[in-house]
Amino acid sequence: MSEENAGVSEAEIAVHWGEESYFHPPLTFVAQANLTDPSIRERFSLDNFPEYFKEFADLLTWDKYWEKTLDTSDAPFYRWFVGGKLNASYNCIDRHLPQYSNKTAIHFVPEPENERIEHVTYRELWVRVNEFAALLRDFAGVKRGDRVTIHMPMTPELPITMLACARLGAIHSVVFAGFSGKACAERIVDSESDVLVTMDSYYRNGALLDHKEKADIAFLEAEAMGHTLQKVLVWQRYAGRYSSPTPMVDGRDFIVQDLLPQYRGQRVAPESMNAEDPLFLMYTSGSTGRPKGAQHGTGGYLSYAAWTSKMIQDIHPEDVYWCMADIGWITGHSYIVYGPLALAASSVIYEGTPTYPDAGRPWRVAEELGVNIFHTSPTSIRALRKAGGGDPDKYDFHFKHMTTVGEPIEPDVWKWYYENVGKGHAAIVDTWWQTETGGFLCTTVPALDPMKPGSAGPALPGIHPVIFDEEGKEIPAGSNKAGNICIQHPWPGIFQTIWKDPERFVRTYFAKYNKNPKSTDWRDWPYMAGDGAMQAPDGYYRILGRIDDVINVAGHRLGTKELESAAMTVPEVAEAAVVAAKDQIKGIMPEIYVSLRPGVEPSEELRKRVSEAIAKEIGPIARPRGVYIVPDLPKTRSGKIMRRILAAISNNSGDVGDVTTLSNPETVDIIRTMHS
Ligand code: WT7
Repeated sequence: MSEENAGVSEAEIAVHWGEESYFHPPLTFVAQANLTDPSIRERFSLDNFPEYFKEFADLLTWDKYWEKTLDTSDAPFYRWFVGGKLNASYNCIDRHLPQYSNKTAIHFVPEPENERIEHVTYRELWVRVNEFAALLRDFAGVKRGDRVTIHMPMTPELPITMLACARLGAIHSVVFAGFSGKACAERIVDSESDVLVTMDSYYRNGALLDHKEKADIAFLEAEAMGHTLQKVLVWQRYAGRYSSPTPMVDGRDFIVQDLLPQYRGQRVAPESMNAEDPLFLMYTSGSTGRPKGAQHGTGGYLSYAAWTSKMIQDIHPEDVYWCMADIGWITGHSYIVYGPLALAASSVIYEGTPTYPDAGRPWRVAEELGVNIFHTSPTSIRALRKAGGGDPDKYDFHFKHMTTVGEPIEPDVWKWYYENVGKGHAAIVDTWWQTETGGFLCTTVPALDPMKPGSAGPALPGIHPVIFDEEGKEIPAGSNKAGNICIQHPWPGIFQTIWKDPERFVRTYFAKYNKNPKSTDWRDWPYMAGDGAMQAPDGYYRILGRIDDVINVAGHRLGTKELESAAMTVPEVAEAAVVAAKDQIKGIMPEIYVSLRPGVEPSEELRKRVSEAIAKEIGPIARPRGVYIVPDLPKTRSGKIMRRILAAISNNSGDVGDVTTLSNPETVDIIRTMHS
């Protein structure tokens, strides 16, 4: 954390609610749960590390069984299940065919309620993935090791595209559909993708959005950065009907459904990948302006996604499981696509917003499909509650299990979720993890550990966290002090590196608490998550928020630097500072303070342009809650912007701290007045 930012971290403004009492899972849940072995934590103690992860790998089907659990010879660049060979698409589809051919793999729920729900069986998924893999290979020239950028909304064609890449051994890089063409371009360039797969349009909040226009922007922006895409493949939201006002570009853009008939009936043998070959990249925000491509491997990642889906989400093949997140984020990768499909579950994909057309929508979907496991974020829960809750009790559905993920959940919101959505009969898990970690790190085991509202629970069996202070001294449980949460050891789901930036990987996640950079002993390389945390006397962890310049908006990470540089694209803006502000629905939202170039007058129009610039450069999710044009930003004498002070103002905290070291202390009162 840099000096000028000291004190503005999310962790700093986190809600410090009191300790809550336990809730116990219903016996009906316990009776059917996948993980009920009370000795699990003993079996998975650090003394038995890393061999207990064999249980994870054994959920997969290997072309060639692995020889060594973990190779640390190039720590912290670890290799899991060394010598093993497998294919992720085979594991998520082919191997289920003998038993589950006609079972639904994907229930697709379009946003418009008058459109039919589509049910894709495992057999049909297999056919469609094979045909599209053949197209990718023979028409677009995609081969093992190539990167493919996928900028698609929540439709079945998205996992079909991902699994087709995995079948060929190509590395997919899915970009959240809500991200701008520009953000997509940066990811295309960084991953050096030759092919972009997109869709013409999709529904969001009642409107059919033009998505193809973003592909055009992405193409041009990437070209301006010196990288030319070879082909743009465009799925149609409505097969046979192009639904975007943006024209197709001859010789560059191709409609997938026009090409597919040529590949009808084609089968592509799944490429036998090494356990440590990369499966995908997922870009995420860090402290600098440049998004980093978290690289996830095949064997380690998939086994981790499968084990946690089975034991923590309690997914059985006969369950209908609905995770309301977007596949464009890691949650969707692990817990809509790879985890559930590896277990032969039926996974729901919902195109639109949870509250469209009203808060009853999720419950109508749950009733129609018989959803019994539900997974969502505190932000969605708060939004549903605010929209009236939609009367879950009026609908005939029963969740045995519910998840929350992505941000801390207020006990009060947790209880509303438990009583109203869970109808008092569901086990809830609050799961703490990150893009980098591949799967859950802290959570209760639903049949074994009681739930405690507002707490992410103990560590996952087999995960051994430690909370360090700034000097690397361990902060014990129950000391009522917060510190930096780290994991003492690697685990199969941990990302392998930052794409093309191994140095940044080591620096960001390991350097702070590593004592010997030459060490090949995993004990010397605790993984630093970048979150502040506290451990209660019962061993449960409470995650307080980011300790770096990252803002977690509705469970999505945004780098403050990314927002600031987006604002700076407005020529009138001289300086910009982004801070995290507490928000009733989204948990945390960005607010931005800008000063203007000499001679430029502030105006409403300019404020709007700053907001628009951020939405255009990054995407609407980054739009700040407030844009404040101020005469000058508070600065130290050495010229550093004091974001700490701005954060205090944004959070209506009376105390802005010491301002005597500022070069312009008078700005503080001016800004405070403007904010109120
Ligand atoms: C950051 C990771 C987890 C996948 C989706 C977001 C915050 C995540 C929790 C939780 C409190 C949480 C952390 C973390 N976070 N889960 N249960 N309680 N905070 O992945 O975009 O990589 O964000 O989200 O601050 O570092 P991500």
